[in-house]
Amino acid sequence: MKIGFIGLGIMGESMSENIVKKHDDKVFVSDLNKAQVEKLASVGAVACENNIEVAKNADVIITMVPKSEHSKAVYTELLPYLGKGKLCIDMSTIDPDVSVEISKFVKETGADFVDAPVVKSKPAAISGTLGIYVGGTEEAFEKAKPILAYMGNNIIRMGGNGMGLVMKICHNTLVAQIQNGVNETLALAQKCGISVDDFAAAISYGGGQNFYLDGQAQNIKNRNWTTAFSLENMHKDLGICQRLSKSKGFPMPGMENAKSVYDKGVEEGIGKEDFRATYKIVEAR
Ligand SMILES: NC(=O)c1ccc[n+]([C@@H]2O[C@H](COP(=O)([O-])OP(=O)(O)OC[C@H]3O[C@@H](n4cnc5c(N)ncnc54)[C@H](O)[C@@H]3O)[C@@H](O)[C@H]2O)c1
Repeated sequence: MKIGFIGLGIMGESMSENIVKKHDDKVFVSDLNKAQVEKLASVGAVACENNIEVAKNADVIITMVPKSEHSKAVYTELLPYLGKGKLCIDMSTIDPDVSVEISKFVKETGADFVDAPVVKSKPAAISGTLGIYVGGTEEAFEKAKPILAYMGNNIIRMGGNGMGLVMKICHNTLVAQIQNGVNETLALAQKCGISVDDFAAAISYGGGQNFYLDGQAQNIKNRNWTTAFSLENMHKDLGICQRLSKSKGFPMPGMENAKSVYDKGVEEGIGKEDFRATYKIVEAR
C-alpha cells in the first residue's frame, strides 16, 4: 500500500519520517516548502513536485496543513485524482464543520475520508507517541488505524466525520485554560519573589500538577520562545471553539478569557512564537 503525505511542517516532518521508517512500501511527500520535501527525501521518502503527484501515486493520502482554508484548498485540488479504494486522512486541526464539508465532497468520488487531529507536540511526533482523535465510519477507522499507529500510540474514534476535531478543539481549549492559570499564578509568584524552579517543584507536590507546567517550566525560565506549537495555531483553535460555543448557544467565559490573551499576542506580532510566549503577555499586565 502506497502512502502519501502532504504538509511537512513542524509536525508533518516527523510524522511522515516515522511512516517512512516503519512502512514497508513507498511514501510520497509534498509541501510548498521544497527544503522540507528534500529533507524527507534524504530519509527515504519519494519527493513529489506537487500535491497532485502525491494523490496520483498514493492509496492513502495524509494531510497535515495549518488551517481550514488550507485543507479545503488541498482536497479541492486533489478531487479529480480521488476515487474508490483511496482513503484520505486529514490530521490538520481545522473547523469540524469545514471538515464535514470536505468529507462530503471527497466521499462523492468514492474515496473515504477521516479527520484525525493529533494531541501533544513535536517530541511526541518524533517518538511516534502522539494521541490521535478520529472522526469517520468504523470501517474507515479500522483501515486508517494501522497507519495512524506509525505516528501515535493512543488512538481513539470519537464518532462520525468531524467528531475527532470536536474533541481536539475541546482538548486544546482545556490546555489554553490550564496554561492561562499557570501564566497568572507563576507571574504572581515571581512578583512575590518565588523562582520558576521553586514554583514548578511546589506545584508538582499538589493537585495543581499539570503536563503543561511540567513540560514548559524550564523554557519559560530560560525565556525560550522557539516554536514547537505556534501561538497563532492555538489562537486559531480558540477561534474555532468560540464559533462552536456560539453555535451551540453555550457561553464559555473561561475560553473567552484565555482567547483574549491570544488575541493580544497576535495583535502584538508574536503569533509565530511558541504558544508559551503568552506568558509575556500575562506578566506584562
Ligand atoms: N505544532 C504542534 O505542536 C501541533 C500539535 C498538534 C496539532 N497541530 C496542528 O497541526 C497542524 C500543522 O501544524 P504545524 O505546527 O506542523 O504547522 P506548520 O506551519 O509548521 O506546517 C504546515 C505545513 O503545511 C504546508 N502547507 C500549507 N499549505 C499547503 C499546501 N497547499 N500544499 C502543501 N503543503 C502546504 C506548509 O508549507 C507547512 O510546511 C495545524 O493545524 C496545527 O494546529 C500542531
